[in-house]
Amino acid sequence: MAESNRSHLLVTGAAGFIGANFVRHRLALCPHERIVALDALTYAGNRANLAGLEDAGRMTFVQGDIRDGGLMERLLRDHGIGTIVHFAAESHVDRSISGPDAFIDTNIVGTHSLLKAARAVWLGATRHAHRFHHVSTDEVYGSLGAGDPAFAEENQYQPNSPYSASKAASDHLVRAYHHTFGLEVTTSNCSNNYGPYQFPEKLIPLMMVNILHGKPLPVYGDGMNVRDWLYVEDHCRGISLILDRGRIGEVYNIGGNNERPNIEIVNRLCAMIDERFARDPGLAKRFGGAPAAKGEKSASLITYVKDRPGHDRRYAIDARKAESELGYRPAETFETGFAKTIDWYLANEAWWRGVMDGSYRSWIETNYAHRTGSPAAASVA
Ligand code: NAD
Ligand code: TYD
Repeated sequence: MAESNRSHLLVTGAAGFIGANFVRHRLALCPHERIVALDALTYAGNRANLAGLEDAGRMTFVQGDIRDGGLMERLLRDHGIGTIVHFAAESHVDRSISGPDAFIDTNIVGTHSLLKAARAVWLGATRHAHRFHHVSTDEVYGSLGAGDPAFAEENQYQPNSPYSASKAASDHLVRAYHHTFGLEVTTSNCSNNYGPYQFPEKLIPLMMVNILHGKPLPVYGDGMNVRDWLYVEDHCRGISLILDRGRIGEVYNIGGNNERPNIEIVNRLCAMIDERFARDPGLAKRFGGAPAAKGEKSASLITYVKDRPGHDRRYAIDARKAESELGYRPAETFETGFAKTIDWYLANEAWWRGVMDGSYRSWIETNYAHRTGSPAAASVA
């Protein structure tokens, strides 16, 4: 095998939302590093998210499945990989409710397959320099009450959805491979991300695309569920700090210190889109179905729908460990990150139209029809 090199990274789930942002961030941050960008290209993964990055010769894209242990071992050996950053997962809570199996397969079995490959290659007859960074979520800690302190790393795991339970299981496997076999691991548990390249099934891009098409904005329950929103680039910076300075075997929580109820997010999005239409008459020509194109308010589209089963009420991250040990601090405020995100989606219409193919449309129609009573109510164009 090529000698393993910590500067040779395998990034799994690299064509997904956070993975693609991370590859861009890391290539810019570390000009001496090389990346093998692996992705199975499920509905959530898109080659377009990595467009242009192969040209410089420092990133190689491989279409493959983390459950394919033979392929994982070959990639580690052939590319002298010394660092894995593991994003690949099924990531949408609503999908985990309508079809949990894929979450067990990818998030648990897939993570285990990657751990086995890492162990075989890095801890075989010769021990190789290595690091396995596992990307996880704050959802493993369960749900907070209004007055509860934010999630710290010592919090008990209490996952409530098939998604968070499968991520919790993968976190435990990573921990066990460190304690039992000595694999050099770190784990990050992060709050809700937003920003460029997020698939339009998650709250912010879904609402954005629906506003532009004049479709209802399906707010679950009373709209008062709280999430701690973080601009994706800040998550990527946090992961880089852990890779470069994090202690082996440790877990770091990453968050935005930015708790907002869902309805506030949706109202803010509506107001900001109205403001952009007012500023740029070209938008009314491009998106004639949007309320703002007809002098109406985007917020008129807000539609309260039946709640998500088992819907966690509140997430909040206590990121003091990452701050004090690693110097982590989000660079974006909610105002700057949100504005960048809205402007990115307005400027990249071809991207979101491209990723919203037929299979996505039929999924959303099937899965939202029972909640709204109308397939059109929560659908996208
Ligand atoms: P995403 O759904 O946008 O991307 C996941 C990627 O993994 C996709 O490109 C998909 O094709 C790929 N993938 C799925 N199954 C695979 C398999 N078997 N083999 C190889 N590739 C496969 O998700 P995301 O929002 O970018 O999340 C990435 C990671 O970050 C996940 O592990 C998620 O749990 C975690 N996370 C996400 C958030 C968030 O707010 N989005 C917050 C905290 C943690
Ligand atoms: P989501 O983006 O799916 O992330 P997560 O469930 O992992 O936090 O949802 C964020 C919040 O927005 C969550 O409380 C559910 C809510 N939500 C809606 O109200 N309507 C929607 O159409 C979606 C997708 C989410």
